[in-house]
Amino acid sequence: MSFVAETRRRRTFAIISHPDAGKTTLTEKLLLFSGAIQIAGSVKARKASRHATSDWMEIEKQRGISVASSVMQMVYRDHVINLLDTPGHKDFSEDTYRVLTAVDSALMVIDAANGVEAQTRRLIEVCRQRDTPIITFVNKMDREVREPLDILDEVERELGMPCVPMTWPVGQGKSFRGIMNLRTQAMTVFESGSERLPQDFETIPLSERDTLVERFGADFETAMESMELATGASPAWDREAFLAGKQTPVFFGSGVNNFGVMEVLDALVDLAPSPRSRTSTTLVNRQPVTKEIQPEDKDFAGVVFKVQANMDANHRDRIAFVRMASGKYTPGMKLKVQRTAKELRPTSVVTFMSQRREAVEEAYAGDIVGFTTHGGVQLGDTITDGASLQFTGLPFFAPELFMTVILKNPLRTKQLQQGLAQLGEEGAIQVFRPEIGGPMLLGAVGQLQFEVVQHRLKAEYDADVRLEGCQYTGARWITANTPAELREFVNAYPQRMAKDAADTLAFLCTSPYDVRLAQERFPKIHFHPLREHA
Ligand code: G4P
Repeated sequence: MSFVAETRRRRTFAIISHPDAGKTTLTEKLLLFSGAIQIAGSVKARKASRHATSDWMEIEKQRGISVASSVMQMVYRDHVINLLDTPGHKDFSEDTYRVLTAVDSALMVIDAANGVEAQTRRLIEVCRQRDTPIITFVNKMDREVREPLDILDEVERELGMPCVPMTWPVGQGKSFRGIMNLRTQAMTVFESGSERLPQDFETIPLSERDTLVERFGADFETAMESMELATGASPAWDREAFLAGKQTPVFFGSGVNNFGVMEVLDALVDLAPSPRSRTSTTLVNRQPVTKEIQPEDKDFAGVVFKVQANMDANHRDRIAFVRMASGKYTPGMKLKVQRTAKELRPTSVVTFMSQRREAVEEAYAGDIVGFTTHGGVQLGDTITDGASLQFTGLPFFAPELFMTVILKNPLRTKQLQQGLAQLGEEGAIQVFRPEIGGPMLLGAVGQLQFEVVQHRLKAEYDADVRLEGCQYTGARWITANTPAELREFVNAYPQRMAKDAADTLAFLCTSPYDVRLAQERFPKIHFHPLREHA
């Protein structure tokens, strides 16, 4: 297959939902029907067994949440589909935002009884900011749920874009009869149970109306009416509008019953985009110049969107997850970390084939490659095979929660510093060093991040720490047009200045008014609530 065909046949998407909407179940069924796994239950089992893999994951077990997000690859209809899972718990939303920077589309799973829930709403916002195309799956139609028109209406409102139904349910709950596929103009008849393969479901052409009315009576007639209302009110399907994040195709089904899932898998191939270009900056005559990197560009370029400690506590190695933006990866290739200009020397390089990690033979734009290293790679790093450029857009959010780190045994200072540096590089927490000295500050977006970090510092670095509340409630990264202006500001607030893991200067706040007051006093200083890795 040609290089260009290899990149075009890739689809990289994130699956997003509120906890319990059915994300794990749907993921498993997608893997099952693409042939990536043979037995149902293995993803679920992994969801459970992940708890057992390492000590610090005990937190996850206790709370029944998934802390780490994972990557799975499958091949379906000659397409390579990379699925990125996102942590469901809101306290790890930063991790989720970063995962969303590594995909070209998103699959949103909605519980048909609950509609668009809080967590989904936040994720939608991020997709909207980036104009990420969204495919919607309305799950659990086998339960007593809301009217499909009602759900559609809510999705439209929340997404701020029209829905285009691709399938439409006939009945629901105990009288769930099936779905009508508007493209093939056929009804697939629902049967419950998780053993059935997609081809085992009976299908009846919609043209055989008498048969359908005879078998499903009022349920069918009502469904036809509401479907006609829905399609009448929605715009025609327009792939360009979908790709621009301006309409969403909607599918109905029941993940646990394997029903309506194949339609989603087909949509990923037929509707979802192949890898898109990514924005980078490069220096030309010492001036930053923006450059779009195309997936078909021959040179290897990728960005680290996630760093995860290996689960094995005996080895201090970490996996850097790199989303490839262009080029081709082959084993033994010489790659460079742009930030340090040093060669990347991984101990192993893997792809994520559903349940297994496998040595990579080749990878293309859109693929996620995992480099195991002993360090030297940070979240946001750009990796290339030579070209000098830096991808932009990996977000760090200004923390809203702060804690001071107090080491219980002062002899473990070195371990604490090493631990904090590494956890900071992973993005598990943000670490701030006050300019005037004193204990380190930890900044988080969610409370649970502190607990994970405290636990990991002890388990992985043998650094027992106490976390104490402090007066800070926010931070803003600051920049100025001239060094003199910056100096003047820093001198005015010496106790409020801190540097983060990337050595970026931040202003610590104790109330929402702080920023406003400081801004009034120093109108030329820029206060940033979000830092993009640069
Ligand atoms: P999540 O990853 O989004 O958190 O959701 P997950 O797939 O774990 O599903 C949450 C619960 O919803 C599970 O039940 C799952 O079986 C159920 N579920 C998923 N899809 C459907 C569906 O189409 N219809 C119905 N009726 N239920 C569905 P559980 O009781 O929490 O777990 P389990 O014991 O069934 O595994």
